[in-house]
Amino acid sequence: MTEKTYTLTKKELNAEKNKAIARFASVASHDLKNVLGGLSNIAYYFSKAFKVEGETPNAMLKLLSSEVANLNTRITDLLDMTRVKQLSKVPCDLQDIINEAITDTKVDGITFELQLLSAKIYADPLRMKQVFVSIIKNSKDAMQNKGTISLKMNIENNIVNTEIIDYGIGMDGETLENCLDPMFSTKLAKAVGMGLTIANQIVEMHTGTLSITSEKDKGTKVLISLSILNS
Ligand SMILES: Nc1ncnc2c1ncn2[C@@H]1O[C@H](COP(=O)(O)OP(=O)(O)OP(=O)(O)O)[C@@H](O)[C@H]1O
Ligand SMILES: [Mg+2]
Repeated sequence: MTEKTYTLTKKELNAEKNKAIARFASVASHDLKNVLGGLSNIAYYFSKAFKVEGETPNAMLKLLSSEVANLNTRITDLLDMTRVKQLSKVPCDLQDIINEAITDTKVDGITFELQLLSAKIYADPLRMKQVFVSIIKNSKDAMQNKGTISLKMNIENNIVNTEIIDYGIGMDGETLENCLDPMFSTKLAKAVGMGLTIANQIVEMHTGTLSITSEKDKGTKVLISLSILNS
């Protein structure tokens, strides 16, 4: 009998890991949603079956229903975070997408230095915004919400390159090597470590590239390259 050894590249290994996480999240959220469905039915039953005296019990039943709905949405969000579903690509301008991402991530203490230009791409605007939101959030974390983030665009040979640069804590070699891995995070309880994994996945689904350079205690630069849409 012959024995074969398969060696997976890091990229293949991450893809497998990601699939396993998505599978787990899908099964877990399905089960949790079933339980929530049961709770929701019980709340509905009590609100209809009994004429509850006084306002407090009724208000509590309403609260229970809305908390169940709330939890349901959070589970869906969690599931969304582990996988990128079908993209809805349309012709759009990357500059508009980046400006929206900046608006969504604005906080006191962070200023943006912008060198943006109009660049038509064929993309899913919401998913592409998610890419920039994730990267900007990482930069904000790295600078503890104080400092300047630079976003610079240029177009060369039908490719639009966008650099997101921060002067935050930067990454050591090990962090840089692992930062795109699913569920890799150095932020402990605060984060899940899926931001860059999903961002990279979205960029790849647009046949673009995402690359990172970083130096500990100096800062980080993320470069995203995407094809220009020729009209
Ligand atoms: N701009 C940055 N500066 C320094 N370290 C960074 C930067 N961006 C990412 N990292 C490192 O890469 C790790 C992975 O980043 P990623 O965005 O995937 O996960 P996270 O930010 O920890 O959690 P999540 O994005 O899921 O909330 C981070 O925990 C951090 O160690
Ligand atoms: Mg992140």
